[in-house]
Amino acid sequence: MKACDLDDIPVNPSRQESLAHLQARLGRRRFLAGGLGAGAVGFLGGMLPVARALAAAGDEPAAPMLGFKPVPMSAADTVVVPEGYAHAVINRWGDPLRVGAPAFKGDAGEGAAAQEQQIGYNHDGMHFFPIDGKDGVSGSSTEGLLVTNHEYVTPHYFFPAGVQPGGQAWTLDWVRKAQYAQGVSVTHIRLDAQGRWRLVEDSPYNRNIHADTPIDLIGPAAGHALLRTRADPGGRRARGTFGNCGNGWTPWNTYLTCEENFTDYFGIGGRDAKATDYPDAAYREHMQRYKGGDKTSDPDYAWDLHDERFDWTREPNEYNRHGWIVEIDPFDPQAAPRKLTALGRFKHENAALSLAPDGHVVVYMGDDQQSEYLYKFVSEQAFRPGDSSHNRQLLERGVLYVARFDVGADGRGVGRWIPLTLDTATSGGGRLGALFNEDMGELLIRTRQAADAVGATPMDRPEWVAVHPDRREAYVTLTNNSARGSGKPRWPGGPAHPGADAANPRDKNIYGQIVRWRETGEKASNREFTWDIFLLAGNPGVYGQGDPRRGSRHITPDNTFNSPDGLGFDPQGRLWIQTDGKYSNSGDYAGQGNNQMLVADPASGELRRFLTGPRGCEVTGITWTPDQRFVFINIQHPGEGPTLAEAQARPLSASRWPDGDQATRPRPATVVIWKRDGGVVGS
Ligand code: FEO
Ligand code: CA
Ligand code: CA
Repeated sequence: MKACDLDDIPVNPSRQESLAHLQARLGRRRFLAGGLGAGAVGFLGGMLPVARALAAAGDEPAAPMLGFKPVPMSAADTVVVPEGYAHAVINRWGDPLRVGAPAFKGDAGEGAAAQEQQIGYNHDGMHFFPIDGKDGVSGSSTEGLLVTNHEYVTPHYFFPAGVQPGGQAWTLDWVRKAQYAQGVSVTHIRLDAQGRWRLVEDSPYNRNIHADTPIDLIGPAAGHALLRTRADPGGRRARGTFGNCGNGWTPWNTYLTCEENFTDYFGIGGRDAKATDYPDAAYREHMQRYKGGDKTSDPDYAWDLHDERFDWTREPNEYNRHGWIVEIDPFDPQAAPRKLTALGRFKHENAALSLAPDGHVVVYMGDDQQSEYLYKFVSEQAFRPGDSSHNRQLLERGVLYVARFDVGADGRGVGRWIPLTLDTATSGGGRLGALFNEDMGELLIRTRQAADAVGATPMDRPEWVAVHPDRREAYVTLTNNSARGSGKPRWPGGPAHPGADAANPRDKNIYGQIVRWRETGEKASNREFTWDIFLLAGNPGVYGQGDPRRGSRHITPDNTFNSPDGLGFDPQGRLWIQTDGKYSNSGDYAGQGNNQMLVADPASGELRRFLTGPRGCEVTGITWTPDQRFVFINIQHPGEGPTLAEAQARPLSASRWPDGDQATRPRPATVVIWKRDGGVVGS
């Protein structure tokens, strides 16, 4: 197998005037408000950085991309940021969401009614919407709606001592408490005169969208027979969003939340399933592929014991109503969120949206499971600047593609986007339509099976995708894949996990990598791309020169890490990388310490560690104020590690973050970071 050149950066063959540069000339507000025809639209670049705009115009040289002194590896129970920076904690789990909401109880003894009015658990993807904005990114840098995913709960700290999912004290109220702590919170925040970000407690925007909130099903699969349940015989109104991992946002001012590990919540009353517990063999294979076997609901949840829609022997179609991307209008608290079935159903990590030169919307998406796939969606119609009612329908119809990664005759990475339509030829010489009853709704509900049939490339757990602000270039974190090359089946009776290939170059991959690709044509529906490995994570503190586990050239003992996950570009093109990996700081992970956030220069490959998190956490979610003076990130599952019994007996044994001396247990929370001199974060 030919490995591609890890550090070579090919020249972009089709550079056109990018959105960032158009913004520089025209002003972002005018651009997005309708100052341009759709045909001239470049990639959506986010906010316009003044320094970059000047540099692009040739008025002064560009400043070095990474301007901060890196922080060392840390095993301490605290957040560390570079010299000259400061940070503060906001929106902790359990903080009141609105006026009159109950205060957090240190013993976690509050029930569902209180949790519904408090900030949820295990914060993940997140976006700051300026309060006066219309396009998702421009407007106020001192007031906005911070919209945050809450992925799951860690029962060790989320319930009071003695309450364990499925245990003696397990009741419907505890199930509801867990359901209300997952989903998405919308919080109206404002910078006060003392420079502190505060919740606007009486804001009408503050709300939780959780696992029991009504949500409309939209797009080709809406109303499908496989989405109908006793509670919703029309198959068009689902209940709840949960397992909300990464996110996206749109230039029509809405938020996208991505349903990832949704099958963990489905079971059959606390016992393992037998073949006769499934409606049919295809259902069984599908469920087993998601769950990895016949096991029932995850012991951390056990919702099926008290809420029968999570028991698939009672409501077999309920699980088809989850695993989608959900669109939320944070500025309309009355509007029902929308599950966008045109974007496919799988373990969605995030949704990286951009505009192609032809004005059509492109959404890149990863399916985070071992040896699953990378996708892109292309809208049927083009974006119209300023036409919000038109733009709000763009994600309802379009074509979903899946990626295949190959190597060309010259040794460089070449790839193809394969459309998942009824007329697409399968690898076996048939048509996709024949596999899905000539029914696009069924194909979308079973997206993975369609991708299998057209020969997509199984990847090392695709996590976040981020799109470069200036180029038609996107990056994906492939976090790790211990199963690659193991010979084990991907699901019971399924094909084996493949061995290493060019884009996934290590068997038993424990460190992960970042792959990037460039679209080669002007159209969103372009099918060819080139690609390379931007960064192969590794550990030069453990593995010597020549060992591929050492990682890319730019990985050093001072910036080593494992398991890249969260990913985001700031408007100046810094690539922010967040980790969700092993924090043992020993063996293969020696010298890597707690999970962290790093920043890379995509042009030079330079990589610096910007932040280290407290013990047992992952670092995830990233968003900026328009002036880039503040960056918000999330600390998820601080204190992870002890068994449930140990954690409930001694809830401070692993972490006291963020409350320190006042702590009763660790609490997931948002961290806001700023440069003390008021400059752009990272510069
Ligand atoms: Fe929720 Fe793939 O991380
Ligand atoms: Ca993640
Ligand atoms: Ca992860």
